[in-house]
Amino acid sequence: MSTDRLTEAFTAVHRGRPEGVWAAPGRVNLIGEHTDYNDGFVLPIALPHTARAAVRRREDDVLRLHSAQAEGGVVELTPDQLVPGTVESWAKYPAGVVWALREAGHAVGGADIHLDSDVPTGAGLSSSAALECVVATAFNDLWDLGLGPVELGLLAQRAENGFVGVPCGAMDQLASTCCEAERAMFLDTRSLSARQLPVDLAAAGLRLLVIDTRVKHDLADGAYAERRSGCEKAAALLGLTALRDLAPDGLDAALATLPDDGLRSLTRHVVTENARVEAAVEALVKGDPAALGPILTAGHASLRDDFLVSCAETDLVVEVALAAGALGARMTGGGFGGSVIALVTEDGADGVADAVTAAFAEAGLTAPRIFTALAAQGAHRLS
Ligand code: GLA
Repeated sequence: MSTDRLTEAFTAVHRGRPEGVWAAPGRVNLIGEHTDYNDGFVLPIALPHTARAAVRRREDDVLRLHSAQAEGGVVELTPDQLVPGTVESWAKYPAGVVWALREAGHAVGGADIHLDSDVPTGAGLSSSAALECVVATAFNDLWDLGLGPVELGLLAQRAENGFVGVPCGAMDQLASTCCEAERAMFLDTRSLSARQLPVDLAAAGLRLLVIDTRVKHDLADGAYAERRSGCEKAAALLGLTALRDLAPDGLDAALATLPDDGLRSLTRHVVTENARVEAAVEALVKGDPAALGPILTAGHASLRDDFLVSCAETDLVVEVALAAGALGARMTGGGFGGSVIALVTEDGADGVADAVTAAFAEAGLTAPRIFTALAAQGAHRLS
């Protein structure tokens, strides 16, 4: 997807030339799932797959939005149409960002926008965060707002929470705006301090496969909100600001005071998952990425058995990948379908991919999409 192609497509739709072209990536999270709305730790990398936007400011306040991935032509929105919960389909992501910017007091006007993305949708790889972050980044540059990547990521999260209506944490948007090439970002979602850790899997003879199951189960949204409120309830019952405040050595005593198994298992996942992020960081700092393997697999078991966000297809990928020699594997993202990551040796990568593909064929499932994840850079201007 060259900038020339994007510029040409912009011209075909909007006439004239864009003022610039920007890109923002999707992400995979190495470990730290469902911890971001518990003030906990996450460890994502940005993918080379990006949403791109060619943008030109307008004299008026109107948004004219176009997407290469959508039928139906230009979506035109006047400021009074930027009402939370009313904009449909893909247009709610760019529109939500403009809404969030204006809500935050930034006097941004209208724009002509052409979007194009190669971040797989519905795969748990944050294609919507990429759309939000590319628009936030473009508007920041065009209106000279002077916002940094953390502020832009938080604005994009605000768009998702307040305009799109999904009560997500901040991981996806902050990964898209803040990640760095060849680094994993160890982010404390409470303090928002980040450490960019070198992750050179190839030097260790390893690879990270992303295996998109191509399934997305419908209950995803409601179930996400339920998990989140369950965690908040458990924290409140324990007298904590957030489950992040519970240390592993206090876990058993805390669990004994909770009233039901549901809250106990949500709590156990969050506390053990935060500890797994810290263990993964230690492995990366020591230059021992192979040690990530068992951490990933333990993370999957916790998401499957305690947090209950896995599904038959992601469980199948994990099981088959491990049996075929993967060092570790787990679902990544919110769950109920989407993608699995598998840490494999260079030599064993094809064998794992083939085994998963064969198992899907045997189970009568659509062939999974499999690619190698490389840690790419966060949102930036292309031209
Ligand atoms: C989704 C949300 C994130 C995060 C993950 C689970 O991707 O958007 O904020 O909660 O699920 O880790």
